[in-house]
Amino acid sequence: MKLLIPVASGIEAAAKREIERLGFGHAPAIRGRIALSGSWEDVAKLNVFLRAGERVLILIGSFHAETFDALFEGVFSLPWEEFLTPHARILIDGKSVKSKLAAVKAAGGVVKKAILSRLRERLHVRTFDERGERAIVGVSLFEDEVQITLDTSGDGLHRRGYRVLTGEAPLRETTAAAIIEDSLYRRNKAFADPFSGSGTIPIEAALYARNIAPGRDRKFDFESWKCVQKSLLPPIREEAREGEYHGPIAPIYASDISPKAVETAREHARRAGVLQDITFSVRDVKDLSLQERYGVLISNPPYGERIKSVDLFFLYRNFAAAFHALPDWSAYFVTSYEGAEEAFGRADKRRYLFNANLKCSLLTYFGKKPEGGI
Ligand SMILES: C[S@@+](CC[C@H](N)C(=O)[O-])C[C@H]1O[C@@H](n2cnc3c(N)ncnc32)[C@H](O)[C@@H]1O
Repeated sequence: MKLLIPVASGIEAAAKREIERLGFGHAPAIRGRIALSGSWEDVAKLNVFLRAGERVLILIGSFHAETFDALFEGVFSLPWEEFLTPHARILIDGKSVKSKLAAVKAAGGVVKKAILSRLRERLHVRTFDERGERAIVGVSLFEDEVQITLDTSGDGLHRRGYRVLTGEAPLRETTAAAIIEDSLYRRNKAFADPFSGSGTIPIEAALYARNIAPGRDRKFDFESWKCVQKSLLPPIREEAREGEYHGPIAPIYASDISPKAVETAREHARRAGVLQDITFSVRDVKDLSLQERYGVLISNPPYGERIKSVDLFFLYRNFAAAFHALPDWSAYFVTSYEGAEEAFGRADKRRYLFNANLKCSLLTYFGKKPEGGI
């Protein structure tokens, strides 16, 4: 099967590296989707192990369509009976860019009609009760080229299952994981997030350090599809458990000025199974003090409209003073505050990514290297 992994803008490289490490070889990214070939077993593995990808889609077919008739014909010609039963609850997720078929809702209606017509003809059924398995069909039009996909994940892969409480401006789990993957962090180095909010970054760091697969315990839509053997997933979940690391790791510190945020983060860490790995505290960033050397700080300081820019400048100044007192730590932080570098100092590296549709900079500051290397 042809598989597509959508990834958020700015984190393609980390996702590609992860996919290569899972044994898939080089996979090109085209317009925010990494393309590879794989079996149902690969679908299961990618869903369970991927940290930075957003979903695992099966490319059912692609064709050119400028009219609704051509769209209907293209979708009708695809082998839906190999994937869906007459009970499938088909949901359409559409988008159209630079295409004649710009009315996404109408296009979705045509796609669903074509799928049901095909199932009616091939499975010899008259009625569809839609009470069975969920199947999210993607309809993506770009310059009149249509890609039709089936979403094996269902809920996005950022939904690891641990984030149940709401936090203030949380970072997406997949984005946090990609930043960690791209960073110098390893389990033998101390880690800190002084603006930890609901805990996403330190929790993803602990999952990474413990080699805990993010999809180990969650459900995926493909599990309830008739075309997938029930025996497929349990051994992969087992393989994930066997690969976990139970030895010592360097400390992971998470702090925030808000006691409520720290409580939320603690609950999330408990649900993720990494509570014992993270030292939480309620603390203003200006009081940050870390004893370990050569650590890695990854954080997502405030940048919202709710804080006056003069206060934001001083907040970043305080953050800078605390961080620059640790000359051998490296820092990575995500922000959309435009005065960040002015307040914090010029970054060694800068790139852009999107968090919740907001363009952010990822600023990197490298610390002094240890003499013998660690
Ligand atoms: C953008 S949010 C972090 C969100 C977090 N990455 C998550 O995924 O939930 C910024 C956090 O900084 C905290 N904060 C604001 N001022 C602070 C200060 N002076 N010291 C420490 N934390 C502060 C806020 O309480 C908030 O939780």
